[in-house]
Amino acid sequence: NRLLLLNGPNLNMLGKREPGIYGVTSLEDIEDNLTKLTESFKYQLDTFQSNHEGELIDRIQQADGNYQGIIFNPGAFTHTSIAIRDAISSITVPVIEVHISNVHQRESFRHTSLLAPVSKGQIVGLGVKGYQLAALAFLEE
Ligand code: DQA
Repeated sequence: NRLLLLNGPNLNMLGKREPGIYGVTSLEDIEDNLTKLTESFKYQLDTFQSNHEGELIDRIQQADGNYQGIIFNPGAFTHTSIAIRDAISSITVPVIEVHISNVHQRESFRHTSLLAPVSKGQIVGLGVKGYQLAALAFLEE
């Protein structure tokens, strides 16, 4: 039983990056907390962050058949990447899209997700807790 946590561009800067919007928790802390949660359900969590679209696509392709679910904050690629959308469509593993901030309260270019139509669901605007809620959606299935 395995879940994959994927984070896209600039999320390696969490904790330092616009803390008023994204909070003060680092990605390392998010990954540690999520690992504890998944372990308590006897699941393994693999984690991957990249600033590169192609590396994220490679990781999504490799995930096929190997995970029960993917928790994915695609960062700004949410709003731009047809290639990541196609990668999600290519695999059978369900993806839950997570956004720390409420993208709908922000600039209009953040209001559209190219990935939402091919994702199982979306968690938006609940801060870093959104990662745990997404994990629970898979773990309590
Ligand atoms: C984000 C929202 C995106 O619009 C932005 O580009 C990010 C982070 C979020 O978690 O709120 O990098 O995905």
